[in-house]
Amino acid sequence: MTAILRATDLGVRFEGRRRLFGGRGDDVWALKGFSLSLEPSLKGEGSVGGTLSIVGESGSGKTTLLRSLLGLVPPTTGDVSFHDRPLSAMTAGERQAMRRRCGYVPQDPYASLPPTLTVLGAVLEPWTLVHGRGEREEGLSRAKELLVEMKLPEDLWSARVRYALSGGQRQRVAVARALILDPELLLADEPTAMQDVSTRGEVLEVLSRRIRGGMSMILVTHDLLLARHAAARALVLRMGEIVESGSTADLLERPAHPYTQSLLAALPRL
Ligand SMILES: Nc1ncnc2c1ncn2[C@@H]1O[C@H](COP(=O)(O)OP(=O)(O)OP(=O)(O)O)[C@@H](O)[C@H]1O
Ligand SMILES: [Mg+2]
Repeated sequence: MTAILRATDLGVRFEGRRRLFGGRGDDVWALKGFSLSLEPSLKGEGSVGGTLSIVGESGSGKTTLLRSLLGLVPPTTGDVSFHDRPLSAMTAGERQAMRRRCGYVPQDPYASLPPTLTVLGAVLEPWTLVHGRGEREEGLSRAKELLVEMKLPEDLWSARVRYALSGGQRQRVAVARALILDPELLLADEPTAMQDVSTRGEVLEVLSRRIRGGMSMILVTHDLLLARHAAARALVLRMGEIVESGSTADLLERPAHPYTQSLLAALPRL
């Protein structure tokens, strides 16, 4: 089976401040020598397949990884290919087409959602950008279905995202927005970080249902329950490099690397 997403020797270096001001420079390799091959999820396979979760301490490069896989951060080394087509060779149109097929839930739903939009407008926006106003009715009904699925009460649908929502609600709007175009691959950066126990269950349920329907997913999370239920494989990042990878169950139950052991020990247990 051909990979949906492949990364080869992907590296991202950020220039240090001193370099920008003409000094010696203290560059940061946020990601180094990262390789990955993600197979598509098979329908109905029971929440496994092309799903991967990524864990690692703050600053280990998780967000940089997701953004570089999507082509939002230019790689310093290596390349990413989507269905065997290298990002570096894609035209602007091809990149746009790829972005439509890949949903992205950014880590910071406050910064990422357009402040003037309403809840319904924010979920509908990606649909309108692709389909124009012609298929507005279908877009609207999909957006509403997603908001119901994400347990966002109807009296919030016309509220401004920026002003009237809690962090967890905003995050659920971001998930709905990432799903409206039925992505084949979802990249989600800590989508349950601001959820409470019950809404977290709902987010998990929505994601699992999509995965059973054939969606692949790369999930950054500190939430071991989410990783366990939504991702077949897991990998651990430390200072931009993979320290350990394997099946989620093995990695969580029998971590081999001391870094993984201490990382897991620091996370809340069930
Ligand atoms: N735009 C940027 N310019 C310079 N350095 C950056 C930039 N973005 C990230 N970094 C640096 O790259 C490293 C990895 O950051 P990244 O945001 O990917 O970590 P993370 O694993 O997502 O952390 P967190 O769990 O806190 O979200 C950090 O050292 C960070 O300071
Ligand atoms: Mg991050």
